[in-house]
Amino acid sequence: MLLRVDFNVPLGDGAVLDDTRIRAALPTIRYLLEHGASVILCSHLGRPKGKVVPGLSLRPVAALLAKLLDAPVEFAEDCVGPVVQAAVERLRPGGLLMLENTRFHPQETENDPEFARQLAELAERYVNDAFGTAHRAHASTEGVAHYLPSAAGLLVEQEVKFLEQALKAPERPYVVVLGGAKISDKIRLIRKLLDEADALLIGGGMANTFLACQGLNLADSLVERDSLAIAAELLAHAATRLHLPIDIVVASELSEQAEHRVTSVDQIPAGWRAVDIGPHTLAQFTAVLLPAKTILWNGPMGVFEIEAFAVGTRGIAQAIAASRALSIVGGGDSVAAVQQAGLASQFSHLSTGGGATLALLEGQVLPGLAVLQV
Ligand code: 3PG
Repeated sequence: MLLRVDFNVPLGDGAVLDDTRIRAALPTIRYLLEHGASVILCSHLGRPKGKVVPGLSLRPVAALLAKLLDAPVEFAEDCVGPVVQAAVERLRPGGLLMLENTRFHPQETENDPEFARQLAELAERYVNDAFGTAHRAHASTEGVAHYLPSAAGLLVEQEVKFLEQALKAPERPYVVVLGGAKISDKIRLIRKLLDEADALLIGGGMANTFLACQGLNLADSLVERDSLAIAAELLAHAATRLHLPIDIVVASELSEQAEHRVTSVDQIPAGWRAVDIGPHTLAQFTAVLLPAKTILWNGPMGVFEIEAFAVGTRGIAQAIAASRALSIVGGGDSVAAVQQAGLASQFSHLSTGGGATLALLEGQVLPGLAVLQV
């Protein structure tokens, strides 16, 4: 069985910094092993641009997987070719072999049919459980499925079930919280959600552009000048459903030691920048979230990597946890914020996808899923 997973995890000094995506793939791996499959795992890691980049080897990931499963995981130095074929021949039912980063070959992202065929030759069947990479039509996510009987894994099944629930028949009130740096990445999504959600709460860097398009002076805050016109158009379209910060935390610079204070959005001092939503905004957003029946959250409310500016993001996590809504969080930063706040168990679903989750919510067909037979 060739199993494509998304083990594109953050690494630091050769160690895995966040194992959420690895843990999320365990049910499918265990299922296959318990049913006697010989499992060949493949994934990409980072963007090595078709070259071997030692710092992006999946070897440390394979070691962690062995620990999590409490079972041996053999590692192959490549993902195709004679070394891999020999390792596959040694593999017994119930055994696990992890291949090296598929993106060490340029043919992976080119979705090269010959490369896909070589991957397919290693196995008799293909399962795709790499939800986070399902929006990429690459050889190991799409091409390979043309050569083998294929199916979706348990993680993919769960992700699609929750996200489609929010998409197709959300119980109302349906509230969406969006944050993160840029609106330019999310314009299509915002447009769609403005039509579907009862309220859209916007914080983080992207709120600045909406505030600036109303003529407010954002001083040194991040503002996407190229998106001002589109922000104005979106505001005009749904002003009553779109909630923006009324106060924010501003800082003199982006550092732990920076001087910072709360100010209303029309009084940002020259030389300062927005780094978090303020307490009044959090109270207002919380009031909208508490009675919601469906909540979707993507993107932090500020520079939450800096503890002093994480209050708004954590507050949103707490408000969602306190609601009785079906709650879905997508995107690495917001999922990390939920986990850091110790609130993961109080959410209905933490999505492992970033771009894939947004693409699905935008209504795009994900090529890695569309190609699967089951
Ligand atoms: C992700 O982390 O969003 C996926 O693993 C896809 O990675 P990519 O954006 O490098 O294709």
